Amino acid sequence: MLDRRALLAAPLALAACERFAEAQTPARDVPGLKTLVPFPIGTCIRSDRPDDPQWVSLATKHVSQLTPEWEMKMEYILANGLDRPQFDRPDAFVAFAARHAMRLHGHALIWYSQGEEAFAHLDRARFAAAFDAYIATVAGRYRGKVVSWDVVNEPVTDAGDSLRDCHWSRALGQDGYIIRAFEQARAADPDAVLFLNDYNLENTPRKGATFLKLVERLMKAGAPIGGIGSQSHLDIEIPAGQIRTFMRDAASLGLPIHISELDASLRSDRRVDLRSRDQRLAEQTGRVGELAEAFMALPARQRFAFTVWGLRDTDSWLRQGERDDGQDQPLPFDAAGRPNPMFDAMAGVFTART
Ligand code: G3I
Repeated sequence: MLDRRALLAAPLALAACERFAEAQTPARDVPGLKTLVPFPIGTCIRSDRPDDPQWVSLATKHVSQLTPEWEMKMEYILANGLDRPQFDRPDAFVAFAARHAMRLHGHALIWYSQGEEAFAHLDRARFAAAFDAYIATVAGRYRGKVVSWDVVNEPVTDAGDSLRDCHWSRALGQDGYIIRAFEQARAADPDAVLFLNDYNLENTPRKGATFLKLVERLMKAGAPIGGIGSQSHLDIEIPAGQIRTFMRDAASLGLPIHISELDASLRSDRRVDLRSRDQRLAEQTGRVGELAEAFMALPARQRFAFTVWGLRDTDSWLRQGERDDGQDQPLPFDAAGRPNPMFDAMAGVFTART
């Protein structure tokens, strides 16, 4: 009769064995992802990454575009207040990208989840002026240095049935703040491709549909939207075909599409997850492969870039702090920089479809 302790210990022991076996796996030589396709492969960068030789080696081999993960957002630039913006770290990303002949994608000018404190003390008129001035200053500073911007990030609610109510919408109107942000960004940088960026567009069809209706409405209103950013933090348990359907609908707007923050967690939101590791990896490679195929099927002019939100599993926001279960493999490479099944899923599609 197996006692309870043994039953509980078994998965932990199995995970330890898997990790030991993985540690013995020699690194295999694989082609650079960016060499497989005619469009940029991207990843995110933080200020400590250039000091990590393994990360620099992976990045220079596999990617040709970078997105600042958090230090080009208000949380960093306005950390000392609205009147004392800091640009040292974003400036360093510009230099790193130039040194390595990579494009830089600006992320993000206006986000519902940041800036409320910095703008809180302003009356309506000064709020609007400060909103315009922030975008003019930041987008103006990086004119000619970034190829594109996430001008507004995550405007649609999680339920997917409406636009978020936030400090920007309360001061400037729900479509109003978005149109204003795009107009200010266009004035500051006439050449940058200007994106509206959001998540769960494939995972939650209702949210994807609301997002695309918003893009259509903004385009009709004359907002200078130049691209659609689908973050693609994939829920690998969604039905096959759902990703393909969203990408088909998104493509019908005719705009360039940026897969802007791809990761594919093996973890489930459900309290009890009975899937084996192999079942989860099969779901992950299935959905990542479907996304890559849908992107490859776009007309060349609509394939802006394909960005993974980190290179090694332990680089991922999903492996930081209390989120970290020590085992998730949401990215193309493991902690040692060795290709994961997710890498093979991407490379397999990129190689087959080129
Ligand atoms: O590095 C500092 C550390 O020195 C300091 O002690 C600590 C506590 O203040 O903060 C650390 O910086 C954190 C940074 O991540 C690096 O870990 C920031 O506080 C934290 O806000 C930042 O979180 C980022 C988050 O966006 C908010 O900006 C995540 O890295 C980043 O992966 C996440 O990315 C977002 C996209 O921008 C939008 N789509 C969703 C995606 C995931 O949430």
